[in-house]
Amino acid sequence: MDKPFRRRDLLGIRNLSAEEIVGILDTAENFREINQREIKKVPTLRGKTVINLFFEASTRTRTSFELAAKRLSADAVNISVSSSAVTKGETLIDTALNLDAMSPDCIVVRHSSAGVPHQLAKVSRAAIVNAGDGANEHPTQALLDAMTIREHKKKIKNLQVAIVGDILHSRVARSNIHLLTKLGASVRVAGPKPLVPTNFEYLVEKNLSVAKNVEEAIEGADVVMILRIQRERQNSAYFPTLREYAIHYGLTQERLDLAKTDAIVLHPGPMNRGIEIASDVADSSRSLILDQVKYGVAVRMAVLYLATGGNPSNA
Ligand code: CP
Repeated sequence: MDKPFRRRDLLGIRNLSAEEIVGILDTAENFREINQREIKKVPTLRGKTVINLFFEASTRTRTSFELAAKRLSADAVNISVSSSAVTKGETLIDTALNLDAMSPDCIVVRHSSAGVPHQLAKVSRAAIVNAGDGANEHPTQALLDAMTIREHKKKIKNLQVAIVGDILHSRVARSNIHLLTKLGASVRVAGPKPLVPTNFEYLVEKNLSVAKNVEEAIEGADVVMILRIQRERQNSAYFPTLREYAIHYGLTQERLDLAKTDAIVLHPGPMNRGIEIASDVADSSRSLILDQVKYGVAVRMAVLYLATGGNPSNA
């Protein structure tokens, strides 16, 4: 590998090279087996401290970062923002400086504002890992999605990936577009017109196109990635009703039949059954939604290991 991941922080996929991405995925492969053991614990990060600082709700990301830290024998501390001094008016930077004064090795942060992990990285001695910042990036989600795709398709290069839903507000879409196009996949996005940016501002990668409609995006796809409607980030009505959304944009079996016969279905969760994805599709053998969650632990083990100075060759 030319340039394995040797950064202190994981702030996004956008600035990573393809080699760095593959390096993280390969490291995650090495950690995967630990999660299948009866005793799911190794001493790799003994003596290290990981703080999970989540300013937004999370089930999968927060739990899997905590499990990843504990399975590598790091001390993991979860800060609940509702019971922290943030509610007394402490600034974000002061919170970070105070946590940093306790000498953690890594702070995993999720925040509703884009750029918060980047701000913390400037003031913190600990490695900063982005667990989702506003509509900007969710790098570990894209990495676990890539691990799921690699496991089932044995490659990423030259795959056709459809990303369907609320692209505008989706950090998952942004991180995935960066990752998949860097690794040579073609990405087609679709959704309600106001929720699909056509200029993609800074998303300058090749192999990215905006489909006319959901059917065009899904036709011939190897991977169909469905996104949740990010109602918490929408300040106006982008479509008339959820029922109409389901009718025009939801992934039904009929729409999935347009994809390749061996196409797989991904969803980052939490999913809204009957809205962006029909229940029978979500529960079908084509759906790898729970595999994504499973690989999330291995990916986060790899990220914590590498961010705290681990050597990819020794994982
Ligand atoms: N995919 C994802 O980020 O899920 P959570 O919000 O539950 O962490």
